[in-house]
Amino acid sequence: MSDLTFNKIFGGVLLTGLVIFGLKEGSDIVFAKHELEKPGYEIAVAEEAGEGGAAAEVAPDWGSVLTPANVAAGQAVSAKCASCHNFTPENHTGPGLFGVVGRKPGTHPGFAYSAAMVDFGNKNPVWDYDHLDTFLKAPGKDVSGTKMTFVGLKKQEDRIAIIAYLHSLGSSLPIPAPKPAGAPTPAAGEAPAAGAAAAGAAPAPAAGAPAAGAPAAASAPTTATPAPAAAKGGSADASKRPGG
Ligand code: HEC
Repeated sequence: MSDLTFNKIFGGVLLTGLVIFGLKEGSDIVFAKHELEKPGYEIAVAEEAGEGGAAAEVAPDWGSVLTPANVAAGQAVSAKCASCHNFTPENHTGPGLFGVVGRKPGTHPGFAYSAAMVDFGNKNPVWDYDHLDTFLKAPGKDVSGTKMTFVGLKKQEDRIAIIAYLHSLGSSLPIPAPKPAGAPTPAAGEAPAAGAAAAGAAPAPAAGAPAAGAPAAASAPTTATPAPAAAKGGSADASKRPGG
């Protein structure tokens, strides 16, 4: 009798345990947890580190980058603008962008621009390639107070592409002549200095013609001196090696 009572109690406890365990396991299976690869969620904001690199960015050669391939690439980039802009003359949240390249900023008919944009247009009468490039990189920084609440296109290739695309849409602005290949760009201030450094002895004549001979003569003994030392070192090594 007492055995049976014990069995009942024991069985009850066991069953309860099993049910609790089963519920826990079951819920873990049903409500499976997915570990996040990165905690939090990603926000598409440009990395501020780009600021340093921005200075190193070379201005595009607009004469050679407004290619059909970039027009096509720009059409893809334009998806980022489409929530606010039509690529027709029609206004939306933002002004219609058809023909914007070459237009005076803040002047598209029927659009209520911010005072900041109108002001910008009075100082910069044409949306040329460089102005668009700067604006699209960081609209709020370039035109402080603009209504265009868009973080910007941080990648230069994206900006080149969208500008090529915009240019293809009824632009009045001519494409400049491509810069000749290999010609030093005005932006590359260090280019001549780098060339001189590579030449080595070349700067000497600039300091005065008589000096040109001196460094050449001086360099001869210095190169000669280390040679015997190296030979000695070599022979010492060679004599050691068989012993060791
Ligand atoms: C969140 C909405 C929004 C997005 C996204 C956006 N814009 Fe704008 N854009 C605006 C608004 C609003 C203005 C008017 C700015 C003002 O008045 O200050 C504007 C103005 C402009 C202007 C100046 C037009 C003129 O007539 O002077 C250009 C050029 C422009 N946007 C290009 C772009 C491009 C290219 C993209 C995509 C890469 C883009 N915008 C994305 C809202 C947006």
